[in-house]
Amino acid sequence: MKKLSYAVVTVIAGIIVLAGGGYTYILYALPDVGEAENIRIDPTPEMIQRGAYLANHVTVCIDCHSGRDWTKFSGPIKRGTECIGGEAFDHKLGLPGTFYAKNITPAGLHDWTDGEIYRLITTGVTRDGEPIFPIMPYQAYSSMDPEDVKAIIAYIRSLPALENQIEASRADFPMNLIMRTIPKKANPDRRPSTSDTLAYGRYITQIAGCADCHTPVVKGEPVEGMEFAGGFEFTFPNGNIVRSANITPDEETGIGFWAKETFLMRFKAYSNADSMKTVRPEEFNTPMPWTMYAGMTSEDLSAIYKYLRTLKPVKNPMERFTVND
Ligand code: HEC
Ligand code: HEC
Repeated sequence: MKKLSYAVVTVIAGIIVLAGGGYTYILYALPDVGEAENIRIDPTPEMIQRGAYLANHVTVCIDCHSGRDWTKFSGPIKRGTECIGGEAFDHKLGLPGTFYAKNITPAGLHDWTDGEIYRLITTGVTRDGEPIFPIMPYQAYSSMDPEDVKAIIAYIRSLPALENQIEASRADFPMNLIMRTIPKKANPDRRPSTSDTLAYGRYITQIAGCADCHTPVVKGEPVEGMEFAGGFEFTFPNGNIVRSANITPDEETGIGFWAKETFLMRFKAYSNADSMKTVRPEEFNTPMPWTMYAGMTSEDLSAIYKYLRTLKPVKNPMERFTVND
């Protein structure tokens, strides 16, 4: 009996030491994406213009980092709040913690070097070496062309410095540990030439983060074989649920029957962000940043369309919107 309990104690102690070692490793050695690069961006007007286009209409940094008016369809941004941060992504939306989008105007980032901002965008690691929650699609940005990343940095550095003190984010256990294991070193691609429409479309789709919202997730992992098949659930604070659409070319449940013009018109219909209709809380609304993507060029939207047509059609019937009653 004594012997047994000794063995048990040894085993338990072993587990504690091992777990403790793993814990210490995760806590102190991760994330490990290397030092921020020592880069200095020399902004040209063309870079700032390119960055403005990407940040507002493609990578939609503005979408999360500005105030949103959720009384309107698709939550257009509140003018004058561009990049001041403060939107909460929290338990009310079904997330494992409370994460505040940060102030990324120069008032928020004045202590950051260009290399530190670059590393954050492409790996999700802050200047203090801490991981951010992957609701910011840094994994999608990881393969962005360095020229595009630099253009975005040049643009956000050119914005008016607006003070807005943001509370610290807090992840629940065990997400606070899991988060440390997610960041990887960036894996930059070159932006393909626009004449190679398919490769170019794939690139734009990637950095626009379409897959992040349009792939269903089980226990935090995207479901394999269901890329772009929709069904990712978004919970509104009142408990209503909207599910992302199936944008694979399946003819029954996806966008197989959509002509290119239908696709383009669907986006362009939201070009005037100031005229979005008022939506009551119980009515259909969506996190799909329609008003921001509406500013994408027809060339870029057409390239996305072309790329989406090449995906494997996946059947995925779903209810788009469920009212909580
Ligand atoms: C889907 C929403 C979303 C998008 C899109 C997004 N971000 Fe973020 N970002 C966040 C959230 C939320 C945080 C804070 C996360 C946390 O604290 O764990 C954050 C953090 C940051 C930070 C860290 C700032 C600090 O003070 O710690 C920077 C810089 C940043 N984002 C820049 C960008 C840029 C540039 C883009 C576009 C290329 C972008 N973000 C796109 C949601 C988003
Ligand atoms: C923040 C999450 C989010 C992002 C990012 C996002 N979508 Fe969506 N999308 C949704 C949701 C939710 C819906 C369903 C509700 C609606 O129609 O707005 C949707 C609907 C759509 C529809 C309408 C399909 C139909 O059958 O009516 C299309 C097309 C679409 N998305 C394409 C895209 C493309 C292309 C991208 C990338 C450029 C993208 N989405 C990025 C969340 C997102």
